[in-house]
Amino acid sequence: MNLGTTQRYYLQTMGVDVFVARNSAKDIKTIKSPEERQITVSSVPDTDDNQVIWNDLRKQVAVCTRCVLHEGRTQTVFGVGDTHADWMIIGEAPGAEEDRQGEPFVGRAGKLLNSMLYAIGLRREQVYIANILKCRPPNNRDPRPEEVACCEPYLKQQIALINPKIILAVGRIAAQNLLKVDTPIGQMRGRRYEYPEPRVPVVVTYHPAYLLRSPREKRKSWQDLQLAMRIYRESK
Ligand code: URA
Repeated sequence: MNLGTTQRYYLQTMGVDVFVARNSAKDIKTIKSPEERQITVSSVPDTDDNQVIWNDLRKQVAVCTRCVLHEGRTQTVFGVGDTHADWMIIGEAPGAEEDRQGEPFVGRAGKLLNSMLYAIGLRREQVYIANILKCRPPNNRDPRPEEVACCEPYLKQQIALINPKIILAVGRIAAQNLLKVDTPIGQMRGRRYEYPEPRVPVVVTYHPAYLLRSPREKRKSWQDLQLAMRIYRESK
């Protein structure tokens, strides 16, 4: 198997075993992180009138009582990252740690998500991360359709304001709700979808929490990330 530097770095950071010829082992130890290799993503200076709209939206979400989930939350989890990002990552809903800290993907799954992003040359701060739901469902149960419907306008506005070049949907719940399909995730990954308004390409991959439970699937998720990067590059 002939692995590229980024791929090996990714596999390393994700804990996937890499099979290499003996004389390449030294190379692997010296693989640099994307940051060290100074992969950069263009960022737009923040001269943005949209900040007023963002602040309004943030306030609306913070006091939202549209569904029952507000009763059990510590706080809402709005989203985090660069509001001018080319990449938007959309997950399912806050878990216990996210509910405590008010930020998406800060638990174990979040650390793996960071590694996944890092492997394709992106730092967490360079993307925008949000969830289908802004409040934690009790005991991390699946979001209910009425909860998704109540929260949808917030996410729609976030997508419209960011107008990213690509959306990476992580996990079945995110993918199915974003794209309004009930296709199993195994059949959704590996192809390009489109979010309708604004039109943004969407790539689906496994949820990092699932990857923690099923590390053998990390290779497939690496393929998904590569697909997303190809589509992103083509969009420029
Ligand atoms: N899982 C998600 O889908 N989102 C989070 O923010 C945390 C865990």
